[in-house]
Amino acid sequence: MALLSFYRTAVGKKTVMAVSGILLFGFVLGHMLGNLKLYLGAEELNHYAEWLREVGSPLLPHGGLLWIARLVLLAAVAVHITAATQLTLLSWQARPESYKERQTIEATYAARTMRWGGVLIALFVLYHLAHLTWGVSWAHSDFVPGDVYHNVVAGFSLWWVSGFYIVAQVALGFHLYHGLWSLFQTLGWYVDENPHDWRRRFALVFALVIVLGNISFPLAVLAGLVR
Ligand code: HEM
Repeated sequence: MALLSFYRTAVGKKTVMAVSGILLFGFVLGHMLGNLKLYLGAEELNHYAEWLREVGSPLLPHGGLLWIARLVLLAAVAVHITAATQLTLLSWQARPESYKERQTIEATYAARTMRWGGVLIALFVLYHLAHLTWGVSWAHSDFVPGDVYHNVVAGFSLWWVSGFYIVAQVALGFHLYHGLWSLFQTLGWYVDENPHDWRRRFALVFALVIVLGNISFPLAVLAGLVR
């Protein structure tokens, strides 16, 4: 099949990373914007969480559209990680011995931390699900099913929970910045080779909006502005 033989090439895997990456970008942006309801109070945030489960009914059963979104997201994460692992293995095969002295020419800090950043983000998401979706006891001090506002505030009141979230958001920011920049490259969306072109600016603004928005939540709780 043509699609499968395209996937076998490095460019095919990069295209899969780019397309699944666009989907994941859409999610993190939408998720951050939705979470801004934290600033409107418990009723607004909890109502929004309930709406996420109701949307699509009565055409779909309760939670139906949410489950479809979850499955699409899970598939995007699975192919993103699979293609990343295969590309890493390919690059190791191409250069089995590590460089004696590594000289990085024109690779930003963000570019050099894509793999480890990705691993940290995956670990963060697992902790985040245990913390705010599953309410696993070791991840949470006091989980009340259905009371999203309470769960967020109780979690972020613990400095180490907030600290981990903040570190993970910084890693996410670097990943988003370099990820966006490379997906423009992979998909051929560029005008010239000027390093200060619109792609870098767009990637920077996008990453900053997500990181600053996300970091504001634990900081607002720690500062007592949201309680
Ligand atoms: C400080 C930033 C964040 C806050 C305050 C936050 C808050 C939340 C909350 C409250 C839920 C549970 C929602 C519900 O039960 O209705 C949730 C779920 C989730 N979050 Fe976050 N989140 C943050 C950052 C992130 C990031 C950066 C990612 C991904 C990289 C992420 C991925 C998810 C996922 C996958 C779910 C599960 C959605 C589901 O299946 O229901 N979150 N988040």
